[in-house]
Amino acid sequence: MSATEAQPPLEELFNPNSLEYAYNPGPQCLALAERGPFVWYEPWQAWMMTQLPDIMACWKAEYLSSDFYDWEFAPPRPPEDQWSNFERALIGHSLVADHAHHRLVRKVVSPAFSRNVVDEIQRRIKPDVERLFKELGRPEVFDYKEAISNHIPFISITRMIGVPEKYWDAIKPVIMNFTQTWNPTISDEQREKARQECNQAIDILKEIVAERRHSPQQDDFLSELLKIEQENDKFEEWDILTLILALIGAGADTTLVAQQWTVYSLLKNRDQVATALATPESFANTFNEVARWGMNGKMGFARYAPQDMEILGQPVRRGQMVLLMPHLYKFNPEYFPEPEKFDVTRRFDPDIVFGYGPRYCIGAALAKRQLYLSMTELFKNFPNAELAEEPERDTSDHNSITFKKLLIKTNC
Ligand code: HEM
Repeated sequence: MSATEAQPPLEELFNPNSLEYAYNPGPQCLALAERGPFVWYEPWQAWMMTQLPDIMACWKAEYLSSDFYDWEFAPPRPPEDQWSNFERALIGHSLVADHAHHRLVRKVVSPAFSRNVVDEIQRRIKPDVERLFKELGRPEVFDYKEAISNHIPFISITRMIGVPEKYWDAIKPVIMNFTQTWNPTISDEQREKARQECNQAIDILKEIVAERRHSPQQDDFLSELLKIEQENDKFEEWDILTLILALIGAGADTTLVAQQWTVYSLLKNRDQVATALATPESFANTFNEVARWGMNGKMGFARYAPQDMEILGQPVRRGQMVLLMPHLYKFNPEYFPEPEKFDVTRRFDPDIVFGYGPRYCIGAALAKRQLYLSMTELFKNFPNAELAEEPERDTSDHNSITFKKLLIKTNC
């Protein structure tokens, strides 16, 4: 019997849907990383890339596809005459399918993510966040999820894009449910409902774009994109719509999860709150430490083999899924001495919490700002806040560990 055959099945060592993982993912992540740099995970029918240098090389060179339709189990790409808005945005103008077009879009839209625009977006979001805390009043105990964090993705995305308030009710379901359109763990009916909501939302977005073309320029993302459209032949209205959907898709759930873990980590480590919130820069480092210490990732980032190929010595078939698992390194003492200790002054080099290379997170600056803003408001309103109880963890999300409730005792 070979050494490989003698090993227990990987799923016995690593099960990110288990309660054990939800409460203590470190040992399972280390066991997976020790199994080898590129391993097959039977339950998900996917390869897993476990070592940071290999993952960074893959992120950088983009030798794998990010296009869901390249996956061996994806539904067939519908022909163009059957496209609704949804397919037109996600196939016809996809940011993932065509690397060259993706790079062009990233290049031309970079001014829309400049420091000035992010400053302006933060200025707009601030009154909304302050209002949430004002409406909350002075309760003895409150659920941070229900009162604050559930509202933040919607506030920040609508303010960022510049969606007028009259459209908020209509567009809300799609912001909250958009990622359901490709969530493999929900029913076909639920996925179809999310797809229909998305179709309607695209009609509304088209209306907003048309209105904005006729109204004076404002300092928001949509106005910036319309300027960019005028200056670039290869960047057109469908690119704008697709990009907005990408912001919704990538910016809503991540924010929801990051809000919960930041509050939890800071309340568990009250002695570090002042250092963490001293400046936006110190908070940016804190954000990395929260993402490391409060590691909540399960699946990593999906890629697909564009053809039969060999990766790290293993034969990979065209269409097979490869999961990049950068979260495994967060528990590795070689990178982080005493990994179980929370320390907002740790150094992060490399700093990969927002990815790396051509698909580096477009919303990184905004994500950090909106979290800084909410945390500052939380501790301004409730300087003596503490966790009312150890929150129960929720394993139901396919991608992240979250909390069922986050009860905060205000002590005011
Ligand atoms: C809150 C914490 C967030 C984290 C930890 C995060 C992390 C990441 C990571 C790791 C990637 C690369 C994914 C990959 O390689 O497959 C990414 C991509 C992306 N993120 Fe974020 N993100 C966050 C928030 C946001 C927000 C608020 C927005 C927008 C408002 C956003 C928009 C995007 C977009 C559009 C991409 C795709 C970029 C591309 O393919 O060119 N993210 N994010």
